[in-house]
Amino acid sequence: MTPTAAVYLDNAATTRLDAEVLDAMLPLMTEQFGNPSSIHSHGRMVRTAIEKARKTVASLLNTSPAEIFFTSGGTEADNTAIRSSIETYGLTHAITSPLEHHAVLHTLQHLEQQGVIQLSLVNIDARGHIDLTHLEELLRQSPRTLVSLMHGNNEIGNLLNLNRVGEICRAYKAIFHSDTVQTMGHFRHDLQQLPVDFIVGAGHKFHGPKGVGFLYVNAERVKIHPFLYGGAQERNMRGGTENVYGIVGLAKALEIAYRDMDAHRNHITSLKRRMIERLYGKMPDVRFNGDSGDVDNSLYTVLNVSLPASDISDMLLFSLDIARISASGGSACSSGSNVGSHVLAALPELDADRGYVRFSFGKYNTAEEIDYAVDTLVGLYQKELVK
Ligand SMILES: Cc1ncc(COP(=O)(O)O)c(C=O)c1O
Repeated sequence: MTPTAAVYLDNAATTRLDAEVLDAMLPLMTEQFGNPSSIHSHGRMVRTAIEKARKTVASLLNTSPAEIFFTSGGTEADNTAIRSSIETYGLTHAITSPLEHHAVLHTLQHLEQQGVIQLSLVNIDARGHIDLTHLEELLRQSPRTLVSLMHGNNEIGNLLNLNRVGEICRAYKAIFHSDTVQTMGHFRHDLQQLPVDFIVGAGHKFHGPKGVGFLYVNAERVKIHPFLYGGAQERNMRGGTENVYGIVGLAKALEIAYRDMDAHRNHITSLKRRMIERLYGKMPDVRFNGDSGDVDNSLYTVLNVSLPASDISDMLLFSLDIARISASGGSACSSGSNVGSHVLAALPELDADRGYVRFSFGKYNTAEEIDYAVDTLVGLYQKELVK
């Protein structure tokens, strides 16, 4: 059955705002309009809303409000952790992986080009697993290092064992930043237990607003200079009048995400399982990149589908779009292509002739939408075979 509305299966890119979140944000867009830095009652009311939001985020993550800094999103939070820790501690070496989001990879590559740091890429295997023995070798060779490795990969769904990597980093006295943008609001992070120095979140990945995020800084272990200089906002750590409604919306969205996490996880996992089973049933040559096909050991929101080599490989996203299905992916960085994925291209043994689509699921998706996406995809390939 064809769904009446267009089908959105790109929840790793962004998610629909939750109506409860909008309700929480509206007063800050209307009657509560004061500048939170003003000392009069209009300002104080808004300051109170920001501090309440900070407390909410901190308590969900089991940490102190003093360790949460609001930013303009995941990119700024990643940049702050990376650039400010390198500058503050005079670090000369960083380790990351070729599978990181550009918010991390391009930031570190820029610092390398500027001669600020030497950058090492940790080895990965064919499924994109980080080689922890190699990580230790790199750390052994170079003290004063920043390690930046993401928790959940936005394209292939691989999950990193944060405890294990954090312990390795501590053993070698390295600073550990993890880009947790894709797991925030989908997995629980207990910062009393996690051996990390920085993690981050972006509101729009868990049904909050766009353009707002946060950085957690482990105050016992690291003290960094600001990344953005200006006014005294965010306790002198991030100048600029706060995105007040964004901050309030982010906190509300995280609260809802934690409140409903188990139910949403079950629902989304069942959708992912359904897509895998149906695809296998109808296209025996289908495969899944990274760990994304391993439902219990990957980001449950992401499925990276690898389809048989065909003339339509390059047109997959376009054809899905025509069928009113929004997904993402692209070819494996073939030269001249501007839609290539650096993550897929970095995977050793990837077959560049196959077609790749990333479907990413959210709480508003339905089984009917999954069936429609599978039937559409299978139909595209059947048409191709008939030609
Ligand atoms: C893993 C990861 N890191 C960082 C970001 C950047 O977040 P933002 O768009 O909020 O700056 C994204 C967004 O796609 C992401 O998926």
